[in-house]
Amino acid sequence: MDLSAAELRALLKLAGEVKGKPMDFRDDLRSKYVSLLFEKPSLRTRLTFELAVKQLGGDVVVSIGMIGEREPVSDMARNLDRWTQCIVARVFSQQTIDDLAVWSKVPVINALSDLYHPCQALADMQTIAERFGSCEGRKLAYVGDGNNVSHSLLLTGTRLGMHVSVATPIGFEPNADVVGKARNFADGTGGSVTVTNSAKEAADGADVVYTDVWASMGQEKEAEERKRVFEPYQVNSRLMSGAKKDSIFLHCLPAKRGQEVTDEVMESAQSAIFDQAENRLHAQKALLLMLMC
Ligand code: CP
Ligand code: NVA
Repeated sequence: MDLSAAELRALLKLAGEVKGKPMDFRDDLRSKYVSLLFEKPSLRTRLTFELAVKQLGGDVVVSIGMIGEREPVSDMARNLDRWTQCIVARVFSQQTIDDLAVWSKVPVINALSDLYHPCQALADMQTIAERFGSCEGRKLAYVGDGNNVSHSLLLTGTRLGMHVSVATPIGFEPNADVVGKARNFADGTGGSVTVTNSAKEAADGADVVYTDVWASMGQEKEAEERKRVFEPYQVNSRLMSGAKKDSIFLHCLPAKRGQEVTDEVMESAQSAIFDQAENRLHAQKALLLMLMC
């Protein structure tokens, strides 16, 4: 939300440059340090941020545990900004990110909260633009839970002129405020937003079919009940057959194979999940360069 459409496009362009010529950027973060804070587990986000900072010539310090419990977020932020030049945080509550950003004098990057997963969406847009030349005018179908990943896809995709169609079970639709903001973006870019309870309607004619786990981190207790409710929203070959012939399948990972997506789709020629994971590194390098240099 803090990047304009022009800044988003500049970031994606820079991500492509960094991917093509990584050595050209190897000293850009020399003598700079990044705090990585994690309240939740992570493979991709933690490792790609560590690699991104180190490959740009800087270094990271890592802290794992709940933020705001041992001391107020306001105190923590004003410690970290004395030692490091950027804070990356994966948190339960978006409020924690907002509080860090209020109190810190250095940039704060959301590495996933209950509401958003913006760094994921940056890598996703890079992957889509690589495959199709650009994101503009393409249809992205997100099928599953109206969660953090769906929110960031709505907000980022519409700013880049995409048609974003989200299909969820009744009661699991994306946050109404987020949908409203995405519709406003879409009005300005020629994109559109559709929210439906029909997986088929969303996937039909899509360029990109995207899904995520049915129970996010912190919702483990609901997993069994959700399996039953979400079953008609599985991304399988039948659902993919309604998408465009040259469509791609995306998933932020980790995936529960056999639940939100079949093994067959994950391993199909249409699956771009590992390009997507690779691009976490490049997109985040571009983000760090924009914020820290
Ligand atoms: N996609 C993603 O954010 O993965 P991690 O939870 O492993 O960081
Ligand atoms: N929606 C998932 C994404 C994990 C990368 C979660 O929040 O657990």
